[in-house]
Amino acid sequence: MAQELSKSHFINLKQRTMYNFEYQNPVKIIFGKNTIPTVAKEVPTDAKILLTYGGGSIKKTGVYDQVKNALKDFKIIEFGGIEPNPHYETCMKAVEIVKSENIDFLLSVGGGSVLDATKFIAAAALFEDGDPWKILSEKAEVKAALPIGAILTLPATGSEMNGNSVISRVSIQEKKAFGSSKVLPQFSILDPECVFTLPDKQIANGVVDAFIHVMEQYLTFDVNSPIQDRFAESILTTLIEEGPKVLANRKDYEAAANFMWSATMALNGLIATGVPQDWATHAIGHELTAFHGIDHGRTLAIVFPGMMNLKRKNKKEKILQYGKRIWGITEGTDDERIDKTIATTIEFFESLGVPTTLTEYNVPAETVEKITERFKTNGYKLGEKRDIDYREIEMILNDRW
Ligand code: NZQ
Ligand code: ZN
Repeated sequence: MAQELSKSHFINLKQRTMYNFEYQNPVKIIFGKNTIPTVAKEVPTDAKILLTYGGGSIKKTGVYDQVKNALKDFKIIEFGGIEPNPHYETCMKAVEIVKSENIDFLLSVGGGSVLDATKFIAAAALFEDGDPWKILSEKAEVKAALPIGAILTLPATGSEMNGNSVISRVSIQEKKAFGSSKVLPQFSILDPECVFTLPDKQIANGVVDAFIHVMEQYLTFDVNSPIQDRFAESILTTLIEEGPKVLANRKDYEAAANFMWSATMALNGLIATGVPQDWATHAIGHELTAFHGIDHGRTLAIVFPGMMNLKRKNKKEKILQYGKRIWGITEGTDDERIDKTIATTIEFFESLGVPTTLTEYNVPAETVEKITERFKTNGYKLGEKRDIDYREIEMILNDRW
C-alpha cells in the first residue's frame, strides 16, 4: 500500500537488518484551525477546477461554504454524490465531465472515499491504455494524472498524504486498490475542527483504520529498526489515548488535532521505511466490504484478531513486543501473553463501539466460502512472508464467529 512512498529494496525473509529504502513524500500539509480558506493560495489561479465531494456532509458542516467563498473568483464545476467506498461507475461519470469540460485541476473536499475517487478520476482521465479499470484490476501503470488538491474532513485513511486509492466496482462486487506517486495530492488541508461534526461511528472507524495501518507496517518480523518501531508505537499509543477523548467530547480541539495527525502519520510511508509490510488484514477486509458493504475500519476490526491468532508463531516476537510496550502485558507464558494481547486489542475496538465478529455483522458462512474461493482462483498469497493462502484466509475468517 505505502510502497509508492517508501520503496524497500529486496525483501529477504532471512535478513534481520533494515532494508535499503528510498523515501520521498512531496505532499504539502496545511494543518490547523481556520486553514480551509488558504486553499485559494494553493490552487493555480487560471485552473478550471472540478470540485469533488460526497453525499452532502460538506454542505451541512459549512465546509462547502468556506471553500466556495475562498474560491469565488475561480472557475469551478462541481461533482457530488461520491459514495463511501467509492464506485468505479461514479468515477467514470466524473471522467466524462473532466474530458468534456477540459478540467485541469481536481479539488477533493471530503473523507478518504472522495479523495480516493478523485485520485482514480485524475488517473483515469489521462489513461491511454484502454479501459481504466485496468489500473485497478491489472495494476496497469499510471503514467500521468491530473493535479489534485485535498481538503480532508475525516481522519482515517491517510489518503491525504499517500498515493493510494481504493475503488469498488459494484456490478461485480470487487474492491481493488492502486498506488501511484502520480496521484499524490499537491497539498492537503487538515482542519481538525472538521472532526467536530463526525458521528461516533466514523470516529471509531477512523481510529481503528489508522491503528491497523500502523499494525500492517509494524506487526511483521524484526529487522532491527527501533526508530520505525517506536514511531509506530507512538502512533498506536496516541490513538489509544486520543480516540476515546474525541468520542467523549467532539469539540475537544486538542484531541481532534492529535487524532487527525496520527491518522495521517499512520500511512504516509514514514513508518514503512526499510521494514517488511503485511497488508493481509486489509486485503481480506476489502472482500467483506465488497460482499456486504461493511465500513472499511470495521472489516479490519473483524479480521485483525484472527490474523494475530493464526500468525501467533511467525509474528511472535512482534506480538509480544506490541503487548508489552502498548498494553503492558508481561506476565505468563508466551502463548498466554499473546492470548491476552489479542483479547486486549479486541476490547479496545469494542470499547470504541466497533463489533469484531462476523456474526455481529450478519455475515453468512457462504461469504467465507466465496472469499476463500476468490483467493483460491486468483492464487494470491498475502502477508509479509506471502505465506497466507486461501486455506489460511478461511481459517482467519472462521476464527471470527
Ligand atoms: O459522503 P459524505 O456526505 O461527505 O459523508 C461522509 C460519509 O458518509 C461522512 N463524513 C465525512 N466527513 C465528515 C462526514 N460527516 C460529518 N462530518 C464530516 N466532517 O463520513 C462518511 C464516511 O466517509 P468516507 O470518506 O467513506 O470515510 P473514510 O475516510 O474512512 O474513507 C473510507 C474509504 O477509504 C479507503 C477505504 O477502503 C474506504 O473505501 N481507504 C483508503 C486508503 C488510502 N487511500 O490510503 C487506505 C485505507 O486503508 C482505506 O482502504
Ligand atoms: Zn485502512
